[in-house]
Amino acid sequence: MAPTKVLVVGATGETGGSIANGLLEAGNFEVYVLVRRASLRKPALLELQKRGVMVREGDLRAPEPELLNALSGIDVVVCSVGPADQPDQIPLARAAKKAGVKRFVPCGFITVAPPGGVMWLRDQKEIVYNNIKQLWLPFTIVDVGWWYQLSYPRLASGKIDYAMTMANDEIIGDGNARNALTDLRDIGRYIARIIVDDRTVNKMVFAYNEVMTQNEIYDLLEKISGEKIERKHISEETVQKRLVTSRQSSETYPYDPEKLVPRYIAEYQYSWGIRGDNNPEYASYLGYLSSKDLYPDFKPIAFEDYLKTVFAGTAKGIYTDRIKRFE
Ligand SMILES: NC(=O)c1ccc[n+]([C@@H]2O[C@H](COP(=O)([O-])OP(=O)(O)OC[C@H]3O[C@@H](n4cnc5c(N)ncnc54)[C@H](OP(=O)(O)O)[C@@H]3O)[C@@H](O)[C@H]2O)c1
Repeated sequence: MAPTKVLVVGATGETGGSIANGLLEAGNFEVYVLVRRASLRKPALLELQKRGVMVREGDLRAPEPELLNALSGIDVVVCSVGPADQPDQIPLARAAKKAGVKRFVPCGFITVAPPGGVMWLRDQKEIVYNNIKQLWLPFTIVDVGWWYQLSYPRLASGKIDYAMTMANDEIIGDGNARNALTDLRDIGRYIARIIVDDRTVNKMVFAYNEVMTQNEIYDLLEKISGEKIERKHISEETVQKRLVTSRQSSETYPYDPEKLVPRYIAEYQYSWGIRGDNNPEYASYLGYLSSKDLYPDFKPIAFEDYLKTVFAGTAKGIYTDRIKRFE
């Protein structure tokens, strides 16, 4: 059988990089990546090219004929773009419909949350999903819970700062909300299964590794490191206040990506920490299929194993190309 031809959008980024990697490792795909001209020399891309990825230079904001060229011969499109760029996928979906693409995976890859005013980011993604549905374009929406790589607190010794993007030192409420977690590196391995699976056409899939509370994450890191971690609890009232302030200050036209960051953080904390949205039971209620049911043989990276590599100093940091570490 001819290999499935997949076009990955966002392969120079974190999620897209995991997806390109997972597809290459699976071995049954021809992997193409859509890359903007300015990003053609990025080291992450050069590495992927060495491993056989084929580049189609292009931009989601390009005119339709260029998008159609980029989609020529493609069976499946998988998109992963940054939070503020979600609507840019809509012209690509329209072109994909015209080009006869068999399945379109728009940029989901977040925590479970309901649409309709809980999280601006979720609602941006839902706008894209609704456009796809209006096209009658076959799709699969994949959410993954919270990346392991973002879920743990800082150690006072600074030993694990090298792997972190932010201090993440707040426990929301009592810290007992159950959160689904996934290793960023496993996202691509899940995608390699999902996009060739007929059961997932026109469905939402929740692909996750483990479920833990913040208290359990702190306990585990304390056990691995031997360090005591301060437990700074943030009340629901504080989260509610942050929601109001960050929503007000981010309501600009056009949107200012910088002003949206406090809003993303407050709305994530509200959704997974206060409402308790990000767990398999709520995903099932919302209609997601579960990776645990679909792929019982899938062996995810264990959170404890990941944290041990973080403490040992051998984990790969995220966003190392753009985010300043702790000084
Ligand atoms: N579950 C979690 O814990 C979690 C954590 C973080 C993010 N996420 C989700 O994952 C998604 C991806 O985030 P990320 O942090 O992985 O992204 P990222 O690292 O910022 O990468 C974004 C990618 O999109 C590409 N891109 C942006 N605009 C483009 C355009 N007009 N044309 C072509 N390519 C374009 C970028 O290319 P260039 O190289 O040209 O810039 C880059 O490759 C987000 O939507 C977010 O919601 C989830």
